[in-house]
Amino acid sequence: MPAVLEVEGLTKRYKQLTALDHATLTIDAGEIFALLGPNGAGKTTLIGCVCGLVKKTEGKVKLFGIDQDVDPVKPRFDVGLVPQEINFDPFFSVRESLEIQLGYYGRPADRARIDELLAALKLTDKAEAQTRALSGGMKRRLLIAKALVHRPKLVFLDEPTAGVDIELRRDLWNYVRKLRGEGTTVVLTTHYLEEAEQLADRVGVIDRGRLSLVERKEALMKRLGERRLEVRFGTPVAALPPGTGTLAADGLSLTHVETKEALPSTEVLRQLYAANLPVADVAVHTSSLEDVLLRVLRGPEGSAR
Ligand SMILES: Nc1ncnc2c1ncn2[C@@H]1O[C@H](COP(=O)(O)OP(=O)(O)O)[C@@H](O)[C@H]1O
Ligand SMILES: [Mg+2]
Repeated sequence: MPAVLEVEGLTKRYKQLTALDHATLTIDAGEIFALLGPNGAGKTTLIGCVCGLVKKTEGKVKLFGIDQDVDPVKPRFDVGLVPQEINFDPFFSVRESLEIQLGYYGRPADRARIDELLAALKLTDKAEAQTRALSGGMKRRLLIAKALVHRPKLVFLDEPTAGVDIELRRDLWNYVRKLRGEGTTVVLTTHYLEEAEQLADRVGVIDRGRLSLVERKEALMKRLGERRLEVRFGTPVAALPPGTGTLAADGLSLTHVETKEALPSTEVLRQLYAANLPVADVAVHTSSLEDVLLRVLRGPEGSAR
């Protein structure tokens, strides 16, 4: 089976500005891929080039094994896009917009599918409301329903939760997990790292048009994340057993960073207890995807570019 999406050397230039610079990426069926990067990094440009909304300058895009330059139309029937900007006709009801969308994708009317999506996105009560009367959050829910109504095999979510409330974010995360359970491939852009941390199987980092890193989330966290043991003592400690970490100047706490070379935290604790030190509290901190990404963007790997 061909990959769902293959992008090779994809480049978009606007006069002087290179918005996307030779991006290469393969997305396999059934994965959730998070494209992370600051504002202006090129995330929307990448999605736009793939979906045919932005004319690429250079490079290749294959959807379901079909080269965009050979057949730009057919594969798009299996793609859904939740755009970053709200862009629908205000003169239809919620239900009508979804019916029109199905028609647009050449699918027959499917009331059961529409009702299912309305329920999943908590829009059932608003089904007959005019879209212009919806709140911002409701409009975003409808935008998501519209992108999914024709059961696309590949869905792009371009900052779907930017500026939305926590409830919608949670509903959407649940729905994305359900989609994956059904075998749908999801590409999501976000600058909320928590979103990628919660959902993604793989993460790509894009900055100034360059896709600098693509890796499985666990591998990335393992490679660049760190675990830190912190121990607080009830009374000041004069010295620590060798190799168990760094003692604070006041003697009241210890910090131990777990690395391949260092003692495991369990061994550190065993030694502290064996030395009868007055351990009062123990905590382990694990770096977040945010810590890891800051290291990628600012650290040696980032500055190498
Ligand atoms: N139509 C356009 N004309 C000129 N520059 C553009 C256009 N669209 C996007 N850009 C520029 O391309 C870069 C990438 O933009 P974009 O893909 O929207 O970033 P992101 O989605 O990661 O925030 C930005 O510097 C942006 O200003
Ligand atoms: Mg964008």
